Amino acid sequence: MIRAAIQGVGHYLPERVVENDWFTTFLDTSDEWIKSRSGIERRHFAAEGQTTSDLAIHAAKAALADAGLEPDDIDTVMVATSTPDLTFPATATIVQQGLGMTRGFAFDIQAVCAGFVYALSNANALIVSGQAKRVLVIGAETFSRIMNWEDRTTCVLFGDGAGAVILEAIEGEGTPADRGILATDLHSDGRHREILQVSGGVSTSQSSGHLMMAGKDVFRHAVEKLARSTIDVLEKGGVTADDIDRVVPHQANVRIIDRTAKKLGLPMDKVVVTVADHGNTSAASIPLAMSVAKARGDLKTGDLVVTEAIGGGLAWGAVLLRW
Ligand code: ACO
Repeated sequence: MIRAAIQGVGHYLPERVVENDWFTTFLDTSDEWIKSRSGIERRHFAAEGQTTSDLAIHAAKAALADAGLEPDDIDTVMVATSTPDLTFPATATIVQQGLGMTRGFAFDIQAVCAGFVYALSNANALIVSGQAKRVLVIGAETFSRIMNWEDRTTCVLFGDGAGAVILEAIEGEGTPADRGILATDLHSDGRHREILQVSGGVSTSQSSGHLMMAGKDVFRHAVEKLARSTIDVLEKGGVTADDIDRVVPHQANVRIIDRTAKKLGLPMDKVVVTVADHGNTSAASIPLAMSVAKARGDLKTGDLVVTEAIGGGLAWGAVLLRW
């Protein structure tokens, strides 16, 4: 049986680090409020002129080096992003050119903060169906470009960055002992789209707009839906929460991460948490966290890993994989 296994991982963070205190220079807020409500201490912001594809290309090169592969070894490039360089073409084609790839196909996936989980699931489908052997899956965002800097309830929460993994077809036995993606679970519900959205877009305002969020509503949906999706993906994969070695959740808010882990009965020492240093980087947050966790020695070959995310749409889901 064909499995899609992660063979390389990498990330990139822009140079500029912004501590919570910076926001107090123009907003009625405090380091204490931001830290206690979200767990965020700092985030990175892209430099002027630095685009989502720039961040993605850095992360992709790091993942390729980690896997020992060249750009032309890749069949497909997928970029999960809600902050593309341009309305079109896809940021993924800009990345393809930037890597010097002369073959394959590239496209974007837009599922906001759930984008990387959606991309992993779709890359898995391409590999299992034999349409691709190696897929470069990138989450990359420049959310600093869509902040309303007068809205203290949102602009303190987000950051810029990129993470990438290389998924490759390998042979498995069809059991939970296999390396690679073991199960996926995706959902969306457009009835909730107004609690987390951007105020503009091509066919409505011909502008990119600013992020708006009903924080309490998002929080409530997040804990409930992430826990349900995680339970379902474990069941689909034929494993239990006790079997899990590592959880790599979307890094939006440490309180959402903590409450969801409690609901699942998973101890926090199994949960990868990077939100303090990165803020919420939307579709980039999971591959960024995976790359940092691997570098720290917290993700090892053979570890059973579950990853979950929710974002605008609402769109959410979970992926079970053996590292
Ligand atoms: N600094 C100081 N005070 C603030 C700030 C700020 N940056 N932002 C809001 N406040 C004030 C509010 O105005 C309010 O004041 P009031 O009582 O006088 O009206 C007070 O703090 C409490 O505000 P709440 O909205 O009740 O604060 P809450 O405890 O709900 O925390 C937060 C807000 C952090 C946004 C929380 O609702 C949350 O984490 N929601 C989840 C949203 C999230 O993380 N989304 C990320 C995108 S989606 C995703 O990735 C899952």
